[in-house]
Amino acid sequence: MLIRRETPADIDSIRAVTNLAFRDGPEAQLIDWLREDEGWIPELSLVADEVIGHVVCTRGYVGDVPALGLGPIAVHPSHQRAGVGSALMHAVLGAAEARGETAVVLLGSPVYYPRFGFRLASEFGITPPEPAWAPHFQARLFADVAPGAFRYAEPFNRL
Ligand SMILES: CC(C)(COP(=O)(O)OP(=O)(O)OC[C@H]1O[C@@H](n2cnc3c(N)ncnc32)[C@H](O)[C@@H]1OP(=O)(O)O)[C@@H](O)C(=O)NCCC(=O)NCCS
Repeated sequence: MLIRRETPADIDSIRAVTNLAFRDGPEAQLIDWLREDEGWIPELSLVADEVIGHVVCTRGYVGDVPALGLGPIAVHPSHQRAGVGSALMHAVLGAAEARGETAVVLLGSPVYYPRFGFRLASEFGITPPEPAWAPHFQARLFADVAPGAFRYAEPFNRL
């Protein structure tokens, strides 16, 4: 499996795989909005092969400190549970740490993401935009981050 940055030629395939994984939820539209937003970081939108999976991190903030919001992540349903999602996670987290990011935050299963070093964000005093998200709101820290409220890139507010 090859993990690499997205190119313009991948955009339609990313939309398709995201719609399949999320059963036509709003996630594919969110990715398109994010791509046009100032929070888009091209080196953190990664695809697996042609295209069986995709992950993206975009610019968010813990208080006033830049951090990353991870997601959406999607793997084609016929390729799930074969390690593609894990490969994408390891690749994007390595890229994030290498570029000097301090923290990656996500909303997701507390069963799946601890294997990638995530812990409940509440353990670090990082609070979600919606208090009800707390049991699923997780963070991986690469450096000390002062407690504060997390804010996603603006397009997340349109959901
Ligand atoms: C979540 C997703 C990206 C994982 O990709 P994947 O390639 O299937 O993941 P991997 O093969 O690397 O890992 C599979 C493991 O993760 C677990 N897992 C995957 N998604 C999970 C979830 N939502 N909750 C709990 N466990 C999950 C599986 O049980 C499996 O564990 P096992 O191997 O011990 O049985 C993929 O299933 C997907 O696209 N799902 C639909 C979209 C989605 O929910 N995205 C995440 C939103 S936070």
